[in-house]
Amino acid sequence: MSGPNTNFDPVQVAALEPEAIEANVAAALEAVAAAGSLEELKVARTAHQGDKSPLALANREIGALPPSAKAEAGKRVGAARARVAAAFAARQAELEAERDERILVEEAVDVTLPTGRRPLGRRHPIELMATRITDIFVGMGWEIAEGPEIEAEWFNFDALNFDADHPARQMQDTFYVANPADESGEGSGLVLRTHTSPVQARALLERGVPLYVACPGRVFRTDDLDATHMPAFHQVEGLAIDEGLTMAHLKGTLDRLASEIFGEGITTRLRPAFFPFTEPSAEMDLRCFVCRGEDAECRTCKGMGWIEWGGCGMVNHNVLRATGVDPDVYSGFAFGMGIDRALMFRTGVSDMRDMIEGDVRFNAQFGMEI
Ligand code: DAH
Repeated sequence: MSGPNTNFDPVQVAALEPEAIEANVAAALEAVAAAGSLEELKVARTAHQGDKSPLALANREIGALPPSAKAEAGKRVGAARARVAAAFAARQAELEAERDERILVEEAVDVTLPTGRRPLGRRHPIELMATRITDIFVGMGWEIAEGPEIEAEWFNFDALNFDADHPARQMQDTFYVANPADESGEGSGLVLRTHTSPVQARALLERGVPLYVACPGRVFRTDDLDATHMPAFHQVEGLAIDEGLTMAHLKGTLDRLASEIFGEGITTRLRPAFFPFTEPSAEMDLRCFVCRGEDAECRTCKGMGWIEWGGCGMVNHNVLRATGVDPDVYSGFAFGMGIDRALMFRTGVSDMRDMIEGDVRFNAQFGMEI
């Protein structure tokens, strides 16, 4: 085996000659400068810094040199590779900075641009309240009935035992469709229903007895819009006709409803009143569900302990007769209450106008997302 060639002259190894090295460096620097992108720089790096690049190959030659020559050749090649590496690193940093800048511009998000997102709608709280109430009736086994908002005067008044000269029939209380019917028979005979009670008569005629039916719906009166009145509002009517029904059944039903809607322990109280379609009739009050009658300063019931909620009574025999039901066999009770009022109580809304102005912020508070 021959030992290392101690007489080897490094100058004779062409790849290690200073000119050759310098030329490699120059070629590398040129390639670095010419690289216009990180991808191009990568290609250049493989060519000028990679394992098979001229400088790497030159470096490999050093090992074969005699020890006396290694140091000088090593220094030369090392310095050359360092210059090339520095040039690559500098260009790399430059190109990365350029790329980052470009990305920032290209991918910038203008947070002030209008978005395509639409706010979700909400079911109206009145509608929700009506559904909630009708659900309670359905839970008790009652049917649900609806009638027309433009109603025959006969259903709205006559079938319900209103006298021909009852004040509610006046045009200052009731919206007539065209003119009220007069003796000459003129007029449309149609009104915007003033209550949901005509659905009682319709349901009796259509479904017969025994009958347990709840009728939610919109009703109309010629009231000016203010904090406590609306020309269009909502009621729910209850009607039960069967053999042997008494006011005790009425009271039990109202108490059940009250506690389902306003909370356990909330009951009702009846005060004598008059309605043409019930006899006896009563106004119905609700135990104040805020103070339960225990706070003389209560803002909800104004210290009364009770809140007016609607009307009720035992169905007048004349109504039963008008709808073909025999009052000697059947009896029944009816009641009607305001849905909007129930919503006001429950949510603490003090101005009815808020409920109908269509401001989505109101619905968002009390409605349900859809
Ligand atoms: N219809 C009445 C109103 O709008 C409320 C009412 C009272 C309904 C007594 C009834 C009832 O069913 O029995 O003022």
